[in-house]
Amino acid sequence: MIDQLNQLYEEFKEKIAAVEDMQQLDSLKTLFLGKKGPMTDILKGLKDVAPDMRKEVGMKGNEIKQGMTAAIEARRDELKQAAINEKISNEWLDVTLNEADSNVGGLHPVSVVQYEIEDIFTSMGFTVLDGPHIETDYYNFEALNIPADHPARDMQDTFYFENGAILRTHTSAIQVRGMEKATPPFKVIGPGKVFRVERPDATHEAAFHQLEGMVVGEDINVSHLINTMKTLLSEIFKRDVDVRLRPGFFPFVEPGFELDISCQLCNGKGCSVCKNVGWIELMPCGMVHPNVLKSGGIDPEKYSGFAFGLGLDRLVMMRYKIEDIRHLHSGDIRFSGKFK
Ligand code: DAH
Repeated sequence: MIDQLNQLYEEFKEKIAAVEDMQQLDSLKTLFLGKKGPMTDILKGLKDVAPDMRKEVGMKGNEIKQGMTAAIEARRDELKQAAINEKISNEWLDVTLNEADSNVGGLHPVSVVQYEIEDIFTSMGFTVLDGPHIETDYYNFEALNIPADHPARDMQDTFYFENGAILRTHTSAIQVRGMEKATPPFKVIGPGKVFRVERPDATHEAAFHQLEGMVVGEDINVSHLINTMKTLLSEIFKRDVDVRLRPGFFPFVEPGFELDISCQLCNGKGCSVCKNVGWIELMPCGMVHPNVLKSGGIDPEKYSGFAFGLGLDRLVMMRYKIEDIRHLHSGDIRFSGKFK
């Protein structure tokens, strides 16, 4: 019987060495130590063993059973560790890798500035909205008080699809979508890419970026507009920035303004960038036209609001002193690699 036990143990050792996963290990355990397994049989048969041998066989049996149990647990630990090691080797991260030597990308400068401005606005309680690049004539023009025969359409020629859809010419379309969903009072911004038929030059591109803003509530007036703009600009430029409003015409606002900031390069003294006037045109804006509020399902008798459009590319160009807008969409890694 002792021989039988020893033989079983040898067989067990051979098998456990070949075990490759937890499932095999569990079946091996059942096979040798399970209720219907040979060890149980042998120990059950102990009572038939001659009394003088019983103690020795019993001890040997227990010893082997314990040996098997310990070997199974040890193998289990090994398998667990192997799984962890494999995970580590597949998901490793070299923390000593020098970023400058790597080819890891970074955010595009337009995204950097856009996210920064989003943060400033959200800290002022604004919600960030998104809208589609492919728009309907309604959202891009009609609802913004620009009917089909309006001359303002000439300045925003765009790309038309056969079904009448267009590439949006401005983020103002997001205003309308926003008004449809929100109930006043609300403050929203809508950043994004816009498209126009342009002959590209240093300051014009067929695709560029804007950030639209809109505030609607009771008794909203021009002083709210100016204060919001001043706060925004001092956050962006990290200092107080002088602003001035000039009249400007946009069908979706009344009155409409051009907001200029004092030239940040010459502090308003006059230089080549501001063409010696000391001011830079940055943000068209105005009080939302009652017709526009109506298209958004808002009662103009009860509510008023202001809106503005920020040219993101121009801000990026001023911030990083980029002299040609065409760099932004060039896809040239020698350009974008500088902003990592
Ligand atoms: N959508 C205008 C454009 O692209 C910019 C603009 C002007 C937006 C006045 C506004 C605004 O919200 O009030 O030329």
